[in-house]
Amino acid sequence: MQVPDIIIAIDGYSSTGKSSFAKIIAKEFSFLYLDSGALYRGVTLFAIENGYISDDCTIDVPGLDKALTGLDLHFGEDGTYIGERCIEKEIRSLEVAGKVSPIATVAEVRSFVDMKLREFGKERRVVMDGRDIGTTVFPDAELKIFMTADPMIRAERRAAEMRAKGDDVKIEDVLKNLQERDYIDSHREVSPLTQAADAIVLDNSHMTMDDQMVWLRNVVSERFGC
Ligand code: CDP
Repeated sequence: MQVPDIIIAIDGYSSTGKSSFAKIIAKEFSFLYLDSGALYRGVTLFAIENGYISDDCTIDVPGLDKALTGLDLHFGEDGTYIGERCIEKEIRSLEVAGKVSPIATVAEVRSFVDMKLREFGKERRVVMDGRDIGTTVFPDAELKIFMTADPMIRAERRAAEMRAKGDDVKIEDVLKNLQERDYIDSHREVSPLTQAADAIVLDNSHMTMDDQMVWLRNVVSERFGC
């Protein structure tokens, strides 16, 4: 399939499989894949380790904002890095998941992440997933997908993913975390999670990845005539 130089923005609720879908799209279309959530998770890990967020999620915003200027957060061979250190495993923990949505409400954190994301999108041929890609980061994205799925199915999928990595999580804790994040993400003041007016909804509760790819190829060929 000869796909034109476009940006594909995938937004939606927690654990709907946005990143798995985006990775496969990137491979199939030879696009660059960018996981915006990983950057929010990276800032969160940095804030935890350096005392900018307390156990009750009180954030030292001026301190964090100042420290961000020196934070070398980037993508590398094995995922997300701070400087030379690969932080991919740590950022997927429930501890980080429990603090990432409060951190992502901070306007200064959002501008830090947005700046990095827009840099990557300059050349198009990018698929990016997150909460505000189609509404704020790339409102001019040529294809916007809004993903959703039944919360219990999402929790089961995420728990299985975490268990496969050796993290012995309880389904109730995972479900609680994703519902809390959905609430905070949808209700924050800066760039809340909302469906862009021109986004296409994909409810994948009962779809396999193959079903999703069939769906996507139809959408792309209808819209771009390829
Ligand atoms: O993979 P999962 O759906 O669990 O979440 P993620 O994409 O890794 O994002 C983690 C958190 O980062 C979200 O719950 C949001 O609070 C925040 N986020 C955001 O605010 N804006 C984005 N574009 C991406 C993530």
